[in-house]
Amino acid sequence: MKEIKIFSPASIANLSCGFDILGVCLNDIGDEIVVRKTKEKGIKILKVTGQKLTLDVNKNVAGVSALALLKETNVDCGFEIEIHKGIKPGSGIGSSAASSAGSVFAINQLIGKPYSSKELIKFALEGEKIASGAAHADNVSAVLLGGFVFVRDSLNFDIFKLNNPIDLAFTILHPQIEVKTSESRALVQRPVTLDKLITQSANLGAFISGLYKEDYNLISRSIKDVVIEPIRSILIPEFEKLKEISLSNNALGFGISGSGPSVFAMSKGLVNAKKIGDLLKEKYRELGFSFDIHTSTVNEKGIQIIKIK
Ligand code: HSE
Repeated sequence: MKEIKIFSPASIANLSCGFDILGVCLNDIGDEIVVRKTKEKGIKILKVTGQKLTLDVNKNVAGVSALALLKETNVDCGFEIEIHKGIKPGSGIGSSAASSAGSVFAINQLIGKPYSSKELIKFALEGEKIASGAAHADNVSAVLLGGFVFVRDSLNFDIFKLNNPIDLAFTILHPQIEVKTSESRALVQRPVTLDKLITQSANLGAFISGLYKEDYNLISRSIKDVVIEPIRSILIPEFEKLKEISLSNNALGFGISGSGPSVFAMSKGLVNAKKIGDLLKEKYRELGFSFDIHTSTVNEKGIQIIKIK
């Protein structure tokens, strides 16, 4: 195997009640990454299309995660990487995670898969760290493992998949403003008061229970965020209006995707998700804001191989 082309998907982190510890992998939206073996050792980023990003391997997240993998692995060749960005950086749907997880997934395939997808998380996290200033594993774990993921302890990589009720679908609205994860993280207030801690942990426990029981009503009652959303939502134009439209049109929940500015509505079924998409589109058009909109079911598999040579 000399060359591999993969699809590395977008993801939603936090899912309201699980700041830094819950994530879900999406379908259709994502980056395509090509990695080739080279005689010359080391990592080179040949080109990035779709977005303006650095080719410097020490600054591009795909290069940083790939270097972390190579540092720990004995290989007698090098790798060149081409990244075709389908996800806009600073959108809140895991742009840096798709690139940093994608490069290590592809290299792992080319060297005979010495690492499991779960073991690749630690390398992908090195890329995520330089993008957001913190090693939060919610996005990279969702991309590498697929489905809903839970990060119990990111330092010791105690990370696992959760049950995925088959009927869940997401609408994602991306207002065309860039919110840097590092800046959005700096806004988050500490410490959290005891009453908020109680509410947030009650919702998190109930949400996970809802996923396993496939109890859509319980999922809906618990996908709420009393800690982060009240602060970060100020950055998102008409957040409360978008939430109201979604929740009054059968959305099970509505919140900020990752660190924003994207927002998500979670629905039962793609038909509901598409209908909410049309309504949110209508509202943003009326207000004259630029945006992208996506609908997606849950991607159970994570990164997909497109072609191998
Ligand atoms: N959990 C991270 C945050 C995700 O909300 O800051 C960033 O995409």
